[in-house]
Amino acid sequence: LHSPAETYGLGVEWGEQAGPGWVFGLIGELGAGKTQLVKGLAEGLGFTGRVHSPTFALVNEYRQGRLPLFHVDLYRLETPEAIQRAGLEEYLFSPAGVTAVEWFEHLAGLVPAPQGGNDSGPIPRGRLRRVLLETLSETERRLSYEDIGA
Ligand SMILES: Nc1ncnc2c1ncn2[C@@H]1O[C@H](COP(=O)(O)OP(=O)(O)OP(=O)(O)O)[C@@H](O)[C@H]1O
Ligand SMILES: [Mg+2]
Repeated sequence: LHSPAETYGLGVEWGEQAGPGWVFGLIGELGAGKTQLVKGLAEGLGFTGRVHSPTFALVNEYRQGRLPLFHVDLYRLETPEAIQRAGLEEYLFSPAGVTAVEWFEHLAGLVPAPQGGNDSGPIPRGRLRRVLLETLSETERRLSYEDIGA
């Protein structure tokens, strides 16, 4: 992905394709483009409002689109136990819409190797698209993903 616009555009495509129960698990360092991708997802689902990282609220709900989009940020919740205590499971496993999760690796409590290694993380009952964003330069990102589950 050579620009923020390209990352956004891929998000739009995915948002147009997404069905109920889909979870996008986003893994990538600060500034990798996770929120940028979610902005595209929201647009692809038909949401026209403002999209920003829910760092303080834990989850933002964007509801005016074709399906609700739940935007979760696990930056401050570093263990699966903390995530459970925060009551986020309904968003992470078979959501009643589409969920995008920033800092998805916190769910497994493991930082996976760049190629994915042996850790595919927990598997939700719906479809999980596990997305890795790597920063190559100021404007370039390498995105890889795998689909897990139904
Ligand atoms: N190819 C690219 N794709 C996405 N973002 C890019 C790209 N090139 C440059 N950028 C810039 O990188 C930044 C990505 O910010 P963004 O908030 O999406 O990252 P993030 O992964 O959500 O970070 P955080 O961990 O802080 O939430 C933006 O300023 C964006 O303009
Ligand atoms: Mg972000």
